[in-house]
Amino acid sequence: MKIIFGLSLVASSSAFHISPPSTTTTTTTRLFVATTNDKALFVDETRASVSNYYGKELSSSDDLKTNACCTAGSPPTYIQECINNIHPEVVSKYYGCGLCLPQYPLEGAKILDLGSGSGRDVYIASQLVGPTGKVVGVDMTDEQLEVANKHLDYHTEKFGFGNVEFKKGYLENLGDLGLEAGSFDVIISNCVINLCSDKEAVLKECLNLLKPGGELYFSDVYSNRRVPKSLQEDEVLWGECLSGALYWNDFENMAKKVGFTDPRLVEDAPITVSSADVERTISESGNDSLDFYSATYRLWKLDLEPHCEDYGQAVIYKPKSCCGGGIERYPSGWLLDKHHFFEAGKIHPVCGNTYKMLHDTRLKEYFDFVGTWDHHYGIFEGCGSSLPYTAVNDATGDKGASTGGCC
Ligand SMILES: C[S@@+](CC[C@H](N)C(=O)[O-])C[C@H]1O[C@@H](n2cnc3c(N)ncnc32)[C@H](O)[C@@H]1O
Repeated sequence: MKIIFGLSLVASSSAFHISPPSTTTTTTTRLFVATTNDKALFVDETRASVSNYYGKELSSSDDLKTNACCTAGSPPTYIQECINNIHPEVVSKYYGCGLCLPQYPLEGAKILDLGSGSGRDVYIASQLVGPTGKVVGVDMTDEQLEVANKHLDYHTEKFGFGNVEFKKGYLENLGDLGLEAGSFDVIISNCVINLCSDKEAVLKECLNLLKPGGELYFSDVYSNRRVPKSLQEDEVLWGECLSGALYWNDFENMAKKVGFTDPRLVEDAPITVSSADVERTISESGNDSLDFYSATYRLWKLDLEPHCEDYGQAVIYKPKSCCGGGIERYPSGWLLDKHHFFEAGKIHPVCGNTYKMLHDTRLKEYFDFVGTWDHHYGIFEGCGSSLPYTAVNDATGDKGASTGGCC
């Protein structure tokens, strides 16, 4: 299989240099060279090829070869209304894989979008946070940033305010961008972290930039088993957001290690590889059982416990009333994650971690809380460790029926 890529590596005695991306035709195989510089080389090479893919190879979502970086699923009406206000060029260059905006009021919030691309999600967030909020998008690819910046004035005029800024940088080095530590309410990202060569570094940067009680809410691609190195070396598969995907359990363990102690899966969907070429590459490598999923996780910056512990606590999502109640758009109930839908007015027993996710965050005003931390009743029943996603063959089934996850 041949594709257009322009990486060429030139060896010197002590280092390898990458020439700027061009549009030369080469094979899909990445060049891995056994030196102590392997990691640095891998990082540089990955960034250059991803940048080339999103900057030069693709001109719109239609050019993608799989639906990994562009899963459908119609957004809620209020998000669709925001999308309708966004410049068509920005919308046409959307390469996300899910809805990465948390579904609670965001007025006045400060949001960071990792790998903001041409800016669709930034411009949605801009409308949701309003004139008192702020949205920063970070991306490394000039062509993507150019489109995002080109339409700044259009959106300022359309929305009646300007609260958006795009920065050029690497997600593994967010600390270089002058962003204030502990200053973001929410960090979002849409189909980007799988493309990063050092995913742990990205998660660490996020933890540093979030406010206490803030969250990383993001959609990305994961697999049901580790992606073999031979496939990771395929630039199309990486660019299409497949072969850089983490095995779900490696991701969850990585998140915990970094300090996001209780990662919560919000929703997931199997990815269909609709390209015969891509399918053949995977099959010929002997990996027919390798499945990919798009999944949205929420990772809170909270002092949580490694397991769901029971303190006899409960929460009640406030029913609609004359003086407020729950979140206006969700009068019947609200979904925290795949295992927690809080029906309005009903008493829901929760573990200590879930209690904190609702009590020590922006969600507090929408719930009533029952109980204290005075008495521990043991582990909260039902924590699991099998594949948390709804299996490929069962994707139409009950979303809450997974065996994995907590509580
Ligand atoms: C699949 S696109 C998604 C873009 C955007 N989030 C959207 O939904 O349209 C991935 C984006 O991540 C950016 N990206 C990938 N790796 C990156 C890195 N290490 N640092 C900064 N940006 C990166 C690419 O330049 C590209 O714009």
